[in-house]
Amino acid sequence: MTTTANLPNPMNTIEHLENEAPSRIDKASSIADLDAIEAETVGKRSPINEARRGLGAIADPAERGATGKAINNVATKLSGMIAAKRTLLETAEANTLLEADGADVTLKGRVPRRGTHHIIQQTIDEIVDIFVGLGYQMVEGPEAENDFYNFTALNFHETHPSRLESDTFYLDYGDTDEEILLRTHTSPMQARYMEKHDPPVYVVVPGKVFRSDAIDATHLPVFHQIEGLAVDDNITFADLKGTLGEFARQFFGTGTKVKFIPHYFPFTEPSAEMHAYTQGKWIELLGCGMVNPAVFEHVGYDPDALSGFAFGMGAERMAMVRHGITDLRTMIDSDVRTLDQYR
Ligand code: PHE
Repeated sequence: MTTTANLPNPMNTIEHLENEAPSRIDKASSIADLDAIEAETVGKRSPINEARRGLGAIADPAERGATGKAINNVATKLSGMIAAKRTLLETAEANTLLEADGADVTLKGRVPRRGTHHIIQQTIDEIVDIFVGLGYQMVEGPEAENDFYNFTALNFHETHPSRLESDTFYLDYGDTDEEILLRTHTSPMQARYMEKHDPPVYVVVPGKVFRSDAIDATHLPVFHQIEGLAVDDNITFADLKGTLGEFARQFFGTGTKVKFIPHYFPFTEPSAEMHAYTQGKWIELLGCGMVNPAVFEHVGYDPDALSGFAFGMGAERMAMVRHGITDLRTMIDSDVRTLDQYR
């Protein structure tokens, strides 16, 4: 287009704008500068807007249409140039600010992924909490145990198969008076606790236990148990049933039914397995029984004056039953996609 400045026709002013505005836009050195140019060229009081307002006065519809189109073309072209220049200036200004500050406090922060307790730990915490609510205290014991606490004090016969090397991990500490082993259950804490504390006793003992088992869907060589022990002057099997039934109702839901089936453990007499009816079937949950008087004798308690009950359950087993997990290994292979389901 040719320069036709100073002619009265509004189109002349616009052609003029089209010719001279680009270099002004290009030379703008700040955003404020560019804002002023924008107001003068395409803003409300700009010649372009004025020309648009004058369109109505053009009588010939064809001419009106062509003029309108020409005005819009110039407006679009200039607006585009202004927007592009604005981006350049904004980036430059941000860079200058950054150089001066060394930090852009307007940038979004990075939100770290939040961790969570492992499903096994969650289960242990929940079980312990239920017993704490029933008045029990939580205590912990050593994972490396003496043969005495793991077996002898608990009335295991010298030839009991659990004592075999094929079942138990023995630690080699050289020539010790007693065998040292990785505890095969949390029951040794029954003896350790009673030896050091006078009755009454109401304790729960969570912890790791170890057995020389090959890994499969239902066995791990390292797993977790929660032991319980209640000793007082008049504890009966009814207390055991009431307490463990209450536990099952809190853990699995209020309507949960339980039943007790005779079993054998050297350190309880009588002994039982507790089963619970959950998810449409009976499932074995834990071992329990009345403390064997032989254990009281080993720890210096008077078996004629005291009675008590004990129980032990596997944390992994409780988690599997609760969540319908069918393969133990999924809980320990640390796949975050699996573990995420139990957040
Ligand atoms: N210690 C037993 C086991 O590991 C469980 C148990 C604990 C049974 C306390 C009775 C009383 O199988």
